[in-house]
Amino acid sequence: MRGPARIAPSILAADFARLADDIERVTGQIDMLHVDVMDGHFVPNISLGPPVVASLSAATELYLDCHLMITDPVRYLSSLADAGASGVTAHIEAIPDPDPFFDRAHDLGLDAGLVLNPATPVEAVIPYLERCSMVVVMSVEPGFGGQSFIPGVLDKVVRLRESIDSAGSATDIQVDGGIDPASVGPARDAGADIVVAGTSVFRADDPAAAIRDLYEIMTDIGAA
Ligand code: DX5
Ligand code: ZN
Repeated sequence: MRGPARIAPSILAADFARLADDIERVTGQIDMLHVDVMDGHFVPNISLGPPVVASLSAATELYLDCHLMITDPVRYLSSLADAGASGVTAHIEAIPDPDPFFDRAHDLGLDAGLVLNPATPVEAVIPYLERCSMVVVMSVEPGFGGQSFIPGVLDKVVRLRESIDSAGSATDIQVDGGIDPASVGPARDAGADIVVAGTSVFRADDPAAAIRDLYEIMTDIGAA
């Protein structure tokens, strides 16, 4: 069963010099903020880390969903927890044995989940579904905002939805990358609970209106 439609704007597309203003423009309409942490090693780009998470948690009550595109996520869990992260997701490609990641994150009181690159099959995360608050299906290659949605990942979302539902699990499915009014419907239809949207929200003339449009499309498809 898909849960209620949720949208997580990615601050990667916000103006980092005016982060609080950009967040203020969408607060009240959204369920969580998506915070893309990149290390220049797991992905060929560098973004932000615990100091920015600390500033965000001082500036907003929103749930901080930290997507860790980093080679050694376990190493940074304690500083992310101290900084005020709410949940962390790490790539199964970076941590083929994710149990130590879950153990540490849960000890620190963080929600924890796993992320799949576009080429990684869903089977990689199935053994860990019960430990995941959410599974993230990347719909672009990780590392950069503003890329086009890869429709070929929708089959994986469908298969993940079936596995989660047949296990009776409460794990959410998040779809991350290239979400806009054209792709949000197919993502929801395939089984997404949560979508991440960066460019289509923060680069819009009216981010609040952009979120309303995405919600409308998602809720038309419903929660069944
Ligand atoms: C890509 C990031 C995404 C990205 C989404 O590496 O994980 O969260 O910021 O941004 P858009 O919506 O621009 O694809
Ligand atoms: Zn992300």
